[in-house]
Amino acid sequence: MSLTLSAAVLFLKISLTIAYRPVFIYHGILTGADSMKHLVNRIQEVHPDTVVYNFERFGGWSSLENAWHQVLEAQSNLKAVCDLHPEEGINMIGYSQGGLLGRAVLQTYPDHCVKTFISLSSPQAGQFGDNFLHLIFPSLVAKTAYQLFYSYVGQHTSVGNYWNDPHHQDLFEEFSIFLPYVNNRIISVNSTQFRDTLLRLDHLVLIGGPDDGVITPWQSSHFSFYNETFHVIPLQDSVIYTEDLIGLKTLQESGRLHVIERENVHHYQWHRTNDVIDDVILPFLD
Ligand SMILES: *[C@@H]1O[C@H](CO)[C@@H](O)[C@H](O)[C@H]1NC(C)=O
Ligand SMILES: *[C@@H]1O[C@H](CO)[C@@H](O)[C@H](O)[C@H]1NC(C)=O
Repeated sequence: MSLTLSAAVLFLKISLTIAYRPVFIYHGILTGADSMKHLVNRIQEVHPDTVVYNFERFGGWSSLENAWHQVLEAQSNLKAVCDLHPEEGINMIGYSQGGLLGRAVLQTYPDHCVKTFISLSSPQAGQFGDNFLHLIFPSLVAKTAYQLFYSYVGQHTSVGNYWNDPHHQDLFEEFSIFLPYVNNRIISVNSTQFRDTLLRLDHLVLIGGPDDGVITPWQSSHFSFYNETFHVIPLQDSVIYTEDLIGLKTLQESGRLHVIERENVHHYQWHRTNDVIDDVILPFLD
């Protein structure tokens, strides 16, 4: 009798250790959880029994709400998930805007339970360009959009919060209430925590590619950005890396930063194409 019982316990333990960690998915701008269903299905097809939490809030137009508001609200949902998986922890995937906001969710959550964070074509160093802008604000042009975004009113939208105009860096620092802070470009009371929380990760995976067509420059998906003369500065030469402002260099030096570049993937295909999912996302889900 007791032998059967301990065998059952052993079996339970083994099946727990080979199970995949739960995954929390954070959708992109103007869409919602529905748009991530293909990715959910593919994960569960290849990694059976994975529990996936597909974040349902802030879909559609509400994805344009102020970034801090979305981040702090999403944090309450992530906390509820972490409370369910305190031992094993979870993995997290943020797509497009959801990768930037999701990263900030971790940074404002000191004891988060996320092991691997996958940023899937997200504007981690900001966004500047007409293609993206016209999806949301058809009548604005990138060159003058700063006049709206770098204002009190413009900061009520998420896009304004991470709009990064290379020709108006002074206004960016003066008005943007979000990106310069979460990237520790401006040092604040939160800076130490913003770095320490990312250093809790086992792996930070940054995925992007030259044919994205929406994230501009596409290298923003790797924390690279334009300088004032529109040259993209490689990550390794960027201040955020060289000064280790949010821990990217430390993650790199300890083998925990994975910078992935893949050609021939349009922005809307990263989460909808099995080849891409299988090659660049699934290997990081344990
Ligand atoms: C500090 O973090 C809190 C969330 O934890 C946020 O509401 C606040 O805006 C942040 N302040 C700065 C200056 O980054
Ligand atoms: C921008 O970077 C390019 C390439 O590294 C460099 O030649 C150029 O002088 C830089 N521009 C500014 C304003 O620093």
